[in-house]
Amino acid sequence: MAGEKPSVELCKGINGLDKVVLREARGSSAEVYLFGGHVTSWKNEHGEELLFVSSKAIFKPPKAIRGGIPICFPQFSSHGNLEQHGFARNKFWSIDTNPPQLPSNSLIKTFVDLILKPTDDDIKIWPHSYEFRLRVALTPGGDLMLTSRIRNTNSDGKPFSFTFAYHTYFLVSDISEVRVEGLETLDYLDNLKERERFTEQGDAITFESEVDKIYLSTPTKIAIIDHEKKRTFVLRKDGLPDAVVWNPWDRKAKAMPDFGDDDYKHMLSVEAAAIEKPIILKPGEEWKGRIELSAVPSSYCSGQLDPQKVLQG
Ligand code: BG6
Repeated sequence: MAGEKPSVELCKGINGLDKVVLREARGSSAEVYLFGGHVTSWKNEHGEELLFVSSKAIFKPPKAIRGGIPICFPQFSSHGNLEQHGFARNKFWSIDTNPPQLPSNSLIKTFVDLILKPTDDDIKIWPHSYEFRLRVALTPGGDLMLTSRIRNTNSDGKPFSFTFAYHTYFLVSDISEVRVEGLETLDYLDNLKERERFTEQGDAITFESEVDKIYLSTPTKIAIIDHEKKRTFVLRKDGLPDAVVWNPWDRKAKAMPDFGDDDYKHMLSVEAAAIEKPIILKPGEEWKGRIELSAVPSSYCSGQLDPQKVLQG
């Protein structure tokens, strides 16, 4: 509720799963499940939900939750021998009570630190020791920040490599009224065409059929403009050069048991990622990848949004 003190509360979510609820004084909030280290809700100060979670999402481990922000680690999609999108989204994370300091904005008081370390069984699947720290933070203005720090703790001197994505499902009013700015003219790998490389044409990306593309060497800011809602999501990212844009459209939607037939109309995944060049860490080394999401009213004027304002503002 607006006017209350910022708070961080551990409580039970769907099916008794543990979740942490972050609340800011002006009324914005976020929820993160320990299962998957998975953000499932981000609301603005009017209490409006900004992330898509399918009404058919199954909150039953080990199946990853459909929607919100799944963490893809140590493998994006099927780019390797591990299960699709790696295992981090299917594991139970713990609250990290004593994380190493993170240089951050001192105004941010509302956050939770989670940690994932491999069990003996996990090491049989991916033979590496690591510490994955995830901070989920809410700024006083209601922006959502996720910071991942992954450290190689191998004692056998071996480096490891991984790919990564914050698989953010943005909630949109109507996918056919959405455009994405910041990715035009870039090269991408098309997952629907055996990852063949193409160059994006046109001034902004709009949607009229299934899309599953990995844009390469993308700028640090991407805008997702929901014309119907007159809302613009701004995704800022650090340490994550690639960006995946995914919408399954009608045919694939019907094939997913945890996704409603019409859900594709109300979501768009724009995923800050490191895919084309896997991250390599030697023992003792740490990698950091960060996203900051804001939702602002669109500066929509005579049918044209000023991309400079959104992307440089
Ligand atoms: C996207 C991939 O990131 O995730 C798609 O690019 C994939 O190919 C989608 O279909 C959903 O994956 P999953 O494993 O959550 O169904």
